[in-house]
Amino acid sequence: MSILFEPGKIGNMELKNRFVRSATVESLCTDDGRITEAYVRAYERLAKGGVALIVPGNYYVDPLGRSYRRTITVERDEVVADLRKVVEVVHGHGAKIVAQLSHGGRQADPKVTGAKPVGPSPVRDKLSFVKPRQMTEEEIEKTIGDFGEGARRVQEAGFDGVQIHAAHGYLVNQFLSAYTNRRRDAWGGSIEGRMRFLTGIYEAIRSRVGPDYPILVKINAEDFVKTGVHPEECVVHCKRLEGLGIAAIEVSGGIAEKGFVTIKGDIPMDLVLQGRGRVERLLTRVMEGSLKKAAAFEEAFYLPQAAIVKKNVKVPVLAVGGMRRRKKMEEVIEQGQADFISLCRPFIRQPNLVKLLERDEGDPISCTSCNRCSLEILFHNKPMRCYKT
Ligand SMILES: Cc1cc2nc3c(=O)[nH]c(=O)nc-3n(C[C@H](O)[C@H](O)[C@H](O)COP(=O)(O)O)c2cc1C
Repeated sequence: MSILFEPGKIGNMELKNRFVRSATVESLCTDDGRITEAYVRAYERLAKGGVALIVPGNYYVDPLGRSYRRTITVERDEVVADLRKVVEVVHGHGAKIVAQLSHGGRQADPKVTGAKPVGPSPVRDKLSFVKPRQMTEEEIEKTIGDFGEGARRVQEAGFDGVQIHAAHGYLVNQFLSAYTNRRRDAWGGSIEGRMRFLTGIYEAIRSRVGPDYPILVKINAEDFVKTGVHPEECVVHCKRLEGLGIAAIEVSGGIAEKGFVTIKGDIPMDLVLQGRGRVERLLTRVMEGSLKKAAAFEEAFYLPQAAIVKKNVKVPVLAVGGMRRRKKMEEVIEQGQADFISLCRPFIRQPNLVKLLERDEGDPISCTSCNRCSLEILFHNKPMRCYKT
């Protein structure tokens, strides 16, 4: 039997194989963040497809933190009953489900929130041109509490755990990064200060969910900006989280300002330019070459960073980004570079891909990282599916 089908464990969660569906914005909810029948069916398909652990993406803990129009919000108790339906169908097919909790910070979309985005410091995003308002200490404390309350609701709905979104340039990553966190108070100024928001969130969640509930993190090992998070700093973050009791670490990279480095692959310019004004189109065209270069696809593109983290912690590590070939995925686990293989776009195209991998020895994954799904779902609010032409 392939090592990919050996059971694994994250905290007290028993997982039937080594495959994780990494967090994915689905654009299958209503505009006010409630699930739809299509959302439930999408998660049923995924669970049926054999994946051990599913992470739905970007559940918002605060309406001010929403980056996408059709994502779940967990800032209200009324969502608990909705979410139970998702958990039930997933559990019905023997998979586990962990909710990713997030706040967009300066990457929140003012068109969705109707408010000026906030951040640790007023550092303008060079791609969206958003300059956030600096959060007050009271707002920071409140947001930490919002993560705690979001986790409480998710636990009440029956989820097997939560994942703190500390990657991809969202608010937690903004606090960790000296590039976006220029504060000189207790929330910045040193690696300790910059970590305080994340460790505060961990503690706020832990105090509500009890000692055994798995709390995972998705974290940037590299922001790809000067003074941003880099692997050695990420190791410090991860060791601290391990000391606190984190159950697993998913290692990723990139912030929105750097374009497509988080997802890598082609950049479908027709979809990038769709709906943009003249000036924006012009500016995007100017940046096209460098955006494409930075986004060039490589197999297992964050594996080197995951392997660095893995060397420094004992908790399970999830490798995400460009995992496409069976042999490579087996090597990753056999060689101890990571413990789980996390995929996003391949599951959008083939929700049953784990079953396909189990069936024979071939390489059934047919996702080409064309990124039409990324643009349609994330930029144009279209429902999660493959849009390859
Ligand atoms: C449509 C789409 C939505 C995504 N949504 C999220 C998300 O909500 N949270 C997150 O951490 N990452 C998100 N990602 C990033 C993926 O989880 C993953 O890190 C990235 O796509 C690389 O993995 P892959 O090569 O297997 O697609 C998203 C990616 C895509 C394409």
